[in-house]
Amino acid sequence: MRSKLKTVAIAAQSLDGHITKHGSEGTTFASKEDQLYFREALKTFDCSLMGSKTFEVSRAMILKSLHKNRLRVVWTRSPEKFMQYQQEDKLEFYGGDLKALFAELEARGKTSCAILGGTSVYTECFKQDLVDELWLTLEPLAFGTGKSLIDGILEARFELLSVENLARSTLLLKYKVVR
Ligand SMILES: NC(=O)c1ccc[n+]([C@@H]2O[C@H](COP(=O)([O-])OP(=O)(O)OC[C@H]3O[C@@H](n4cnc5c(N)ncnc54)[C@H](OP(=O)(O)O)[C@@H]3O)[C@@H](O)[C@H]2O)c1
Repeated sequence: MRSKLKTVAIAAQSLDGHITKHGSEGTTFASKEDQLYFREALKTFDCSLMGSKTFEVSRAMILKSLHKNRLRVVWTRSPEKFMQYQQEDKLEFYGGDLKALFAELEARGKTSCAILGGTSVYTECFKQDLVDELWLTLEPLAFGTGKSLIDGILEARFELLSVENLARSTLLLKYKVVR
């Protein structure tokens, strides 16, 4: 039986399923409406998880917005490389198994974790069946190439919870993972 920690994967993607555009890192393609919604949504979680590449892309902004009630965990095989940024209970670096991480977060009293990508983190969380909900922003764009939400073979089913227009052509789709 998995923990009671609620886990929500949050992502913005193009209509053709890319979370980055062409060869560029980052999410500058996301609309200002999505960025606003994302910042507000994050405040409703008491912890979040991202991969070290995503951390590096947004490092300056993340370091400016650390909050004592919202732990950010960065997944890396080399936590020691990031020790200069480590701040207990605010920003921590973790190199172990993600299922064990979520159990530890719950043991520390956390109730909700936003899974913030990128592809490696989304993929591992979905493959290990660690995600309760997916909150997906669909931007009215197509890139042809770029990183995908998930890399490799996966079989997952979802139930639609809600549809919201963040802007005229930008949709926020919330799904529950069907187990
Ligand atoms: N559109 C969106 O909503 C969205 C959301 C998030 C991110 N992104 C974008 O996605 C891109 C990054 O995605 P990504 O898949 O390349 O990278 P990522 O998931 O952000 O981070 C990958 C890193 O995770 C760590 N990792 C992977 N497997 C591990 C394991 N078994 N144990 C411990 N650590 C492990 C490694 O860190 P080390 O190399 O340090 O060992 C690896 O380099 C960025 O461009 C970012 O801006 C887009």
